[in-house]
Amino acid sequence: MTGASSGIGRAIAQACAAPGVTLALLGRDRERLIETASICKAAGAIVEIGAIDVRDPAAMHEWLISFDRDQAVDLLIANAGVTGGLSPHSAVETAATSREVLETNIFGVVNTIQPLLGAMIARRAGQIAIVSSIAGFVPVTDAPSYSASKAAILRYGLALRSGLRGHGVKVSVICPGYVATPMAAREIGPRPFEVSAEKAAELILHGLRRDQSVIAFPTFLAFITWLGGVMPDRVRQFTERWFRFDVTDSK
Ligand SMILES: NC(=O)c1ccc[n+]([C@@H]2O[C@H](COP(=O)([O-])OP(=O)(O)OC[C@H]3O[C@@H](n4cnc5c(N)ncnc54)[C@H](OP(=O)(O)O)[C@@H]3O)[C@@H](O)[C@H]2O)c1
Repeated sequence: MTGASSGIGRAIAQACAAPGVTLALLGRDRERLIETASICKAAGAIVEIGAIDVRDPAAMHEWLISFDRDQAVDLLIANAGVTGGLSPHSAVETAATSREVLETNIFGVVNTIQPLLGAMIARRAGQIAIVSSIAGFVPVTDAPSYSASKAAILRYGLALRSGLRGHGVKVSVICPGYVATPMAAREIGPRPFEVSAEKAAELILHGLRRDQSVIAFPTFLAFITWLGGVMPDRVRQFTERWFRFDVTDSK
């Protein structure tokens, strides 16, 4: 799993950790990865960590292929992501922010999945989970690159799902609403129906066990966000004013 050093990823790792389970935990921050690993080892899991940037396709490929050779991956979770967004009093994201968000959230997902697709298809087994967001359902004025990236991986994941159905590989796309993590803490504004990272992990793992195509929660917020994406754009812009936010400068 990528993004295992914090937030939702750490909570999923913790929920999966048990005797007989081997976890591969990826992220950039080695210290925070070691913290997650310690929690999981205390619960009886065998843990390997990799401090790798998901934007580095060669490093991702090498690490994942090598891990899969020793221990066939049965659940691959592409969870790493960044938000970007507009700082207070600015109308646009910087080009650097936009690039970082799109590269991490789109190519980071591709770099996580591509190396293992061949092996999973050959084994006719495995499950892939892509962490998108309800922000992928609707244009988000205050985080344009983020909503674009999450829409892209939602479509990518669902297309993969139908393409891999005949090959024994399952694919689900996860679309959380607000989850209390360091990422969410960057947002200055309303975060209605926010859930804890532990609750999010529970809902995600429940949806994966049922092989749901889209695991979106909380249901009401997911529904009104989806509605925002299909309503006339002028109405969407009007209703969005209750959800506007700024982001703090540090990512
Ligand atoms: N929190 C929410 O409200 C919310 C809602 C909807 C969707 N999501 C999605 O859920 C996922 C997890 O977010 P979170 O809330 O748990 O945020 P978080 O606490 O900030 O965690 C983000 C994780 O992504 C990793 N990451 C970021 N950029 C990376 C890169 N270039 N290479 C490798 N790892 C990278 C971070 O690792 P390092 O810091 O070690 O690099 C960290 O482990 C994201 O995809 C996010 O978009 C979150």
